[in-house]
Amino acid sequence: MTLSMPSLQATSAGLFRSAGAAACRAEGIAPIQVNHLDVFYRDLHALEDVSVAVKPGKLTGIVGPNGAGKSTLMKAMLGLIPAAQGEVSWGQTSLLAQRERLAYLPQRAQIDWRYPATAWDVVMMGRVRKAGWLRKFSATSKRAAEAALKRVGMEDFAHRPIGQLSGGQQQRIFLARALAQEADVLFLDEPLTGVDKRTEAVLFDILHELADEGKIVLAVHHDLGPTIKNFDEVILLNREVVASGVRDEVLQSEFMQQAYGGWATNWAAAAA
Ligand SMILES: Nc1ncnc2c1ncn2[C@@H]1O[C@H](COP(=O)(O)OP(=O)(O)O)[C@@H](O)[C@H]1O
Ligand SMILES: [Mg+2]
Repeated sequence: MTLSMPSLQATSAGLFRSAGAAACRAEGIAPIQVNHLDVFYRDLHALEDVSVAVKPGKLTGIVGPNGAGKSTLMKAMLGLIPAAQGEVSWGQTSLLAQRERLAYLPQRAQIDWRYPATAWDVVMMGRVRKAGWLRKFSATSKRAAEAALKRVGMEDFAHRPIGQLSGGQQQRIFLARALAQEADVLFLDEPLTGVDKRTEAVLFDILHELADEGKIVLAVHHDLGPTIKNFDEVILLNREVVASGVRDEVLQSEFMQQAYGGWATNWAAAAA
């Protein structure tokens, strides 16, 4: 950027307007930087020297075989499990120091679906940090929760116990919780597990919208079929980063074979 400060100030309003609202909002958000991350479970070296950047304004997928460390990477970035080495920074400080700006949808198996909560309760959990424990939820929080339920098309299910909803409906409710949180960073671990095709489309529409708003959207994705095309960027993981960056550059057969072994050689043809 060679513009001097005064001219940048003079032109910035027009510049950002013409570049579109998404670019303007993305301006304030730095990429997340993962640097030399190592994670162990006792003597299992689950992640080795992982360095990646996750950019705002893109839908980024973490892809790799079972046990590759996809969930581990997400949890280590969130500070849910300790890293033996490395750091995760976001802008001037660590990602963890800004945890109120993060939303996380865990892998389905980690959620206790018998938990006696209604869909509304689950969505309102997204507002707890803003309201504070035991304090009354404000009208603003209720409006945010209502808007989130509507955005995922679940406004008619607010009073249903979460355990009685279908898999796709449950995932929509958990996405609504993340939306109600009004986070700038969304981490989703296999959000499509157990969802029907219609919900899949709804979820991807919303994830694309969030990315277009300039947010950071990172999802673990284990399906190498056509849905992979929803992702702009891919982190291909197998304990180490095999490749990361623009989707089609990462998903070339050489890297896929490195990550998955022989069977994936023709995946691209099958997915096309
Ligand atoms: N809590 C844990 N304790 C011990 N080993 C674990 C734990 N969680 C995951 N692992 C192991 O770490 C590796 C990576 O797991 P995970 O991150 O869940 O992989 P992925 O999400 O890519 O399927 C696997 O070998 C898994 O068995
Ligand atoms: Mg996993």
